Formats: sequence, C-alpha cells, structure tokens
Amino acid sequence: MIGLISALEEELLLFKNQAKITEVVNQAGLKFHFGTLAEQKIVLLRCGVGKVNAAVATQLLIDRFGVDAVVFSGLAGALVPHLKRGDIVVSNYVVQHDIDLTAFGRRHGEIPDMTRLFEADPKLVRLASDAWEEKSIDEESPSQLVVGTIATGDSFVSDKERIKWLQREFGAVAAEMEGGAVGQVCSMSRVPFVIIRVISDGAGDGAAGEFIMFLDQASELTFQLIMGMLKLMSANQKTITT
Ligand code: ADE
Repeated sequence: MIGLISALEEELLLFKNQAKITEVVNQAGLKFHFGTLAEQKIVLLRCGVGKVNAAVATQLLIDRFGVDAVVFSGLAGALVPHLKRGDIVVSNYVVQHDIDLTAFGRRHGEIPDMTRLFEADPKLVRLASDAWEEKSIDEESPSQLVVGTIATGDSFVSDKERIKWLQREFGAVAAEMEGGAVGQVCSMSRVPFVIIRVISDGAGDGAAGEFIMFLDQASELTFQLIMGMLKLMSANQKTITT
C-alpha cells in the first residue's frame, strides 16, 4: 500500500475525487482515506502545513498502517532561475534547512548521529521520471521535470537573500515546508519515499500571492504525474506476474 500525503486540501482534492475510497480512519485529528487508485492500494491524507504535521502523518502511515512507500506531493518555491511555474521537482535528497547547530561547529541542516541530506528512493525517483516522459510524449508539455535537492523548513520563503543562501548552502533547487520531515521519518524506519513538487512561485517578493493564484492549477499537475507513477507500478506488477 502506498501512502499519499499532501499538506493542503486543495493539493489532495483530485486524488480524493478520483480514488475509490472504501474506508476512512480518524487518528490524531487526521483522516486516513483508504482505497484504490490506478489499481494500486493507497491511503490518502492531508497532514497540514509544516514539519511536525508531516512527521506525525508519516509515522502513523508507517507504524499503524504499514505502508510500503510514502509519496508526498504539493507546491514549492523555485530557488534557481531555470525553474518556472508549472515545472516539476522530484527529490533525490531532502534537507531541513532550519536545523541549526552551527554554534557547535556543525553545518546547517546537520542532525547529530544522523545524516544532513536524506536520500529519496531511487526507484521512486526513476518512476516519476518515466511517468513524466510518457506524459510528455503525448502532450507536448512546455514544462520540465528536474531531479534535485529540496530544502524544507517551517517558514514560507519569500526573500531573495534567503533563496541565495538555500541554493549555496544546500545546493537546493526548491523550497517547501514538509519534505525534509517525511524524509527523516521514512529513513529512520527504512521506508522508501519521494517528494513530488510543482513550482508555484519564485520564493521572492510576491511569492505568497503567486502561491494562492496557482494552487488549484498546480495540484492538477502533481496529480497527473502521480497517476502516471501508479499506472506504471500496476503495469510493472502485471508484467512480473504474467
Ligand atoms: N511552498 C510553495 N512555495 C513555497 C515557498 N516559497 N516557501 C516554502 N514553501 C513553499
């Protein structure tokens, strides 16, 4: 079973509408929607904004519901000029940029006795790229998919200096508010994960306005890509069993 998480209701709406939901379980103020989508068993939920919300949701998916993988989707701010609104970013690594033990000589993002960059599952990253290629062939899509480091923190980035810092310090291409927590929790339990983000804003002046304007349209783009991933999973499973 695949756990599909988004922070906001808008980001999850299409999944809820398209999936065949058979059961809803409430825990910790969260609603876990069980069902199938593109012939895959899934559990969907909106976790709310920020790292703690994402961590709680992810741990529950793992411990209580035994998911085999976690896919987190939503919007992100671009940290590099070549990323434009509507482009997709798939995490190869996630880092929590607001972890700061530099007073003890550590690097920004470094968690004692742990890593600084949490690696997403290469197979899921590959699946996202494959799904994107299949989609692009029949759609002539002007946007691009980029695999790169996603920087996570409990603040919405809307500041040019901050963009430069995130880019230089972490080599990050996009900023958001949950992926790093999902990455840490999944890595601690050795559960595969990937973060799929669509660029909604330039993370500079006016980012909040851009985010709000693009929210519904952007959610359609991540939904389409994840549908493609689920379809490929189902097709691969059929090839193995036949
Ligand atoms: N999600 C979308 N845009 C963002 C930004 N600029 N900062 C943090 N999270 C975001």
